[in-house]
Amino acid sequence: MSSERTSGKPTVGDTAAFGFRQVAADARQGLVNDVFSSVAGRYDLMNDLMSGGLHRLWKDDLVAWLAPPKSARRFDLIDMAGGTGDISRRVLEAGGPGCAAVLCDISPAMVRVGRTRLSAPGLGGRIAFAIGNAEALPFPDKAFDAYTIAFGIRNVTRIDRALAEAYRVLRIGGRFLCLEFSACEVPLLDRLYDFHSFEIIPRLGALTAGSAEPYRYLVESIRTFPRQEPFAHMIRTAGFARVSYRNLTGGIAAMHSGWRI
Ligand SMILES: C[S@@+](CC[C@H](N)C(=O)[O-])C[C@H]1O[C@@H](n2cnc3c(N)ncnc32)[C@H](O)[C@@H]1O
Repeated sequence: MSSERTSGKPTVGDTAAFGFRQVAADARQGLVNDVFSSVAGRYDLMNDLMSGGLHRLWKDDLVAWLAPPKSARRFDLIDMAGGTGDISRRVLEAGGPGCAAVLCDISPAMVRVGRTRLSAPGLGGRIAFAIGNAEALPFPDKAFDAYTIAFGIRNVTRIDRALAEAYRVLRIGGRFLCLEFSACEVPLLDRLYDFHSFEIIPRLGALTAGSAEPYRYLVESIRTFPRQEPFAHMIRTAGFARVSYRNLTGGIAAMHSGWRI
């Protein structure tokens, strides 16, 4: 079992970490896309298996921290790497009639599932879908009041570019919020978490999906993602102010917040 965290540099020269392997940086996104297109139909089940259902509580925490306005005041969210739509749905349900969301994701297969899930009456008119890479967003400058990315950023090859794009598309006063697996900081819980990650999850993956490989990538990519502080530093470097983070479940996941001011 290995736990090779980077200090905030996901790419090394022309290579990048894909799980515990180094691959050509330009090839990495294609490999990530293969993972998500292969699991899209089972993604929600997979999320529950990987986190023991905790991802639901963590997502509720993210939306509570965002606190979208309850009024009719216009509030535009971009839910980056929005996948099957858990964050968009929660924000639209928590916010008032002025809240609107664009779910943007690089994977057409994930967006297809998201579109089906979010077609419920009431949300329909306030959600739009886009296919796009977080590193080069198909949106103009200063188009959104909030940018969320949940369990998405560790899949991006050049995280610094994604953060620069998040900054660019946010209005002055806009908020960046990221939810991501992070570094567990509680003794004993970290051992249990390692065991769950490396022994249980790949087996569950093999049983439910017929292949352990996508699950292995998801587990390994968590361990190569920067810890809480180095990631906060990257967010500051992108230009965000008042950067802070909160650990969830002892740091198994963390939420990072920053403001464009
Ligand atoms: C683990 S899922 C998270 C989905 C959703 N946000 C959630 O919390 O349930 C990661 C998502 O990131 C997307 N993704 C990976 N690389 C991306 C990129 N460079 N730009 C945009 N989306 C990306 C994948 O297609 C996938 O839908």
